[in-house]
Amino acid sequence: APIPLTLGVNGEDLHCEVDPRTTLLDCLRDHLGLTGTKKGCDHGQCGACTVHINGRRTNACLVLAACHQGDEITTIEGLGTPEALHPLQEAFVEYDGYQCGYCTAGQIMSAEALMREPCGPADADVREAMSGNICRCGAYSNIVAAIQHVRG
Ligand code: FES
Repeated sequence: APIPLTLGVNGEDLHCEVDPRTTLLDCLRDHLGLTGTKKGCDHGQCGACTVHINGRRTNACLVLAACHQGDEITTIEGLGTPEALHPLQEAFVEYDGYQCGYCTAGQIMSAEALMREPCGPADADVREAMSGNICRCGAYSNIVAAIQHVRG
């Protein structure tokens, strides 16, 4: 039977009823209407579904929504404001950090969490730290450049 659930999403308490087997990804997209978070593989391989749970990057397809009652979730809709893009969003535009754009929300959420993690400045360091996010267009060098620009 569906269970009631409250998630703190992008600073707002959102309520829904979900089957206990619902992933956080499906909960966000199908129950809460937050379709900025993308579904690529649905089994932890691609990173398209990356969100933050209590500030840490997580593949939303790999966790059950019901396990995160009361947790703080940040999605791509929670970055930036209607007036201004987040600096990483600006950098992805400036450096062409995408082609088709399908992986971009996950790339940016992963990169945003990376700003609070130890990571060296070299291309190889950033590529390693971002290795959970696959880009089928192969825009990696521009993605790395955008992240390096923001990390400074
Ligand atoms: Fe979650 Fe691919 S959709 S890692």
